[in-house]
Amino acid sequence: MPIPFIDLQAQRRRLGEPLEAAILKVVRSGAYIMGPEIAQLESELARFGQAPFVLSCGSGTEALILPLMAWGIGPGDAVFCPSFTFAATAEIMPLIGASPVFVDIDSDTYNMDAASLEAAIQAVKAAGEFTPRAVIAVDLFGQPADYPAIAEVAHRHGLKLIADSAQGFGCTLDGRHPIHWADVATASFFPAKPLGCYGDGGAVLSKDARLHDVMVSLRVHGQAVKSDTEGATFEHDPKYLNLRVGMNARMDTLQAAVLLEKLKIFESEIEARNRIADRYAAGLAGVARTPRVIDKGISVWAQYTIEVDNRDGLAGHLREAGVPTAVYYPIPIHRQAIYSAYPQAPGGLPVTDAKSKVVISLPMHPYLEPEAQDQVIAAVRASQASASGGGAVRGQGPGSAAG
Ligand SMILES: Cc1ncc(COP(=O)(O)O)c(C=O)c1O
Repeated sequence: MPIPFIDLQAQRRRLGEPLEAAILKVVRSGAYIMGPEIAQLESELARFGQAPFVLSCGSGTEALILPLMAWGIGPGDAVFCPSFTFAATAEIMPLIGASPVFVDIDSDTYNMDAASLEAAIQAVKAAGEFTPRAVIAVDLFGQPADYPAIAEVAHRHGLKLIADSAQGFGCTLDGRHPIHWADVATASFFPAKPLGCYGDGGAVLSKDARLHDVMVSLRVHGQAVKSDTEGATFEHDPKYLNLRVGMNARMDTLQAAVLLEKLKIFESEIEARNRIADRYAAGLAGVARTPRVIDKGISVWAQYTIEVDNRDGLAGHLREAGVPTAVYYPIPIHRQAIYSAYPQAPGGLPVTDAKSKVVISLPMHPYLEPEAQDQVIAAVRASQASASGGGAVRGQGPGSAAG
C-alpha cells in the first residue's frame, strides 16, 4: 500500500466527532468573521506559545508582513533572512519595498548562521545603500534556530528579530519558545504544517502591547483600535476611522474552531513526531546523513530531511517502492531569478548551495505506524546499498562536512 507523505485523515479520525461538532457550531452560529473562537484561539495560542500577545491572521505570510508594516519598514531598508527557506520568508520584503539580504545557514541544522548574519550586517552597513532594520530567522523543518546567538547579533545592531516559525510552531530551545528571544514569532497553520487547519491560517506572537495593537489595526484595513481613540469621542463608528494603510488579514472563524480542537492533541503529536524521528535516526544510521537538532532543542519535525549524494536515484527507488519523498528546497531563494540581484552575505552562501543539492525529505507525521516506517527505512537502505555496492554513506556524525 502506498505510504502517505503526511496523513491528515488519520488525525481527522482521531479528532472525531468533537471536531465536526466544532465546525458545525460555527456554521450554525453565522459568526463567520471574528467569531468568539478567534479570541479563544488567540488566548490558547498565547498560553501554549509562552507569548503575552497573539494575533491570529489569514496565513503565515500575512503573519510575517504585519510586524514589518507595523515597524514602518519599507524602501531603503534591509531585512536579513536565510535563502534556504520557503519563498514567503523573503518575498515579503520586496512586497513592502524593502530589500532582503540573504544569509548562510549552519551545516548541521540548516538554520541561520549567526556569523554569516554578523558579516552580512557589517557589509550592508559599510556599503551604505540600505539601512539594516530587521532579521528573520527561520525554524526550518521544525527545529529552533540558534536564537541566543542570533538575537545577540540582531539586538547589538539595533535590529528587530522575527522568528519565522511557520514550520516550527511548538519547537523549543532549553524549554523556551522562540518568542523568548525574538521580538515577534510567526506561525503558519497551512494544513501540512505540524499544527495545521483546514485552509490557510497564521498567527503573530509578540511581547509589546503597542506593536500588537498596531497589528490589530493593520489586520483590518488600518481601522482605529481602542488605544487610538482613548479619551476621544466620535460622531461615527470608529470602525470606519482608518488611521493606517492596512489590509484584510483576518483568520476565518471556522479555522479557529478547527485549531482549538487540534491544539488539544498537539503536545502528544509533537511527542509522537519525536519518537518517529528517533526511530528514523536509528534505522538509517550508516546509510544517510540524518538530521541533527540544536543542543537543548526540541523539533516539531515538520519534515524529516536526510542527505544523500544520489538524491534522484533515491527518490526514484523510493517512488517504485511506494514511498513518496519531497525536496525542500531544490532552488535556494537567492538562486531564483527574481531574487538573484538582492545582496548576500560576503562570500556568498556556500552551505546553502551545497545543501540544496543533497537534501531529501521522507514521510513524517504523528500517525506513521512502525510497519510503514520500517518499509521506508528498508527502501532507503536497499537503495543506498544498490547505489554503492553497500557503502554510499554521506558524512556521519557531528562535524562531518556539508558537501
Ligand atoms: C518558512 C516559511 N515561512 C512562511 C511560510 C508561509 O506560510 P503560509 O503558507 O501560511 O502563508 C511558510 C509556508 O510554507 C514557510 O514554510
